[in-house]
Amino acid sequence: MIDTTYDMFIETEVPENELIISRTDLKGIITYVNDTFAEISGYEPSELIGKAHNIVRHPDMPKSAFKDVWETIQDGKVWRGFIKNMRKDRGYYWVEAEVSGVYKEGELTEYKSIREPVSAEKKIQMQKFYDKLRQEEEDKHRVVTYLTTSQLEALKALV
Ligand SMILES: Cc1cc2nc3c(=O)[nH]c(=O)nc-3n(C[C@H](O)[C@H](O)[C@H](O)COP(=O)(O)O)c2cc1C
Repeated sequence: MIDTTYDMFIETEVPENELIISRTDLKGIITYVNDTFAEISGYEPSELIGKAHNIVRHPDMPKSAFKDVWETIQDGKVWRGFIKNMRKDRGYYWVEAEVSGVYKEGELTEYKSIREPVSAEKKIQMQKFYDKLRQEEEDKHRVVTYLTTSQLEALKALV
């Protein structure tokens, strides 16, 4: 059951003129955050460093969005998109993020992300889009749970 309480509906506005930066190792463990990142997410930098970046994951975000992030950056490309994150106090904030690799002497060593604010219209549009994606993901899951084991095995053989 999804636990939704009032504090989840409080939005933190992302400032216009400050960069929100984080870096992770190749597995997505946070290695650096700037002060603005810490402030917006409601954590102390020391509470974030060493943790998986999904510490700020919001339950409204569909799985497929992050699958796309990881496939893109592991492929050496830059991912740009909209992310709704959850604060320590369970409030939320929207960012337009750019996620990409950090290279040292041509070798991929870490990943980095820089974020900017999102317009009010875009937030509404993205909320609807992610709600739809999440719904589709849940529907897919439901179909699979109704299959018999042999049907599931047959399906697995196809993919
Ligand atoms: C540099 C970098 C920045 C990321 N920033 C975020 C972020 O702001 N919010 C978020 O939910 N996931 C972010 N992710 C993706 C997470 O690593 C993770 O894949 C995502 O939260 C989904 O969690 P899960 O893989 O446990 O399902 C980032 C990943 C990298 C490499």
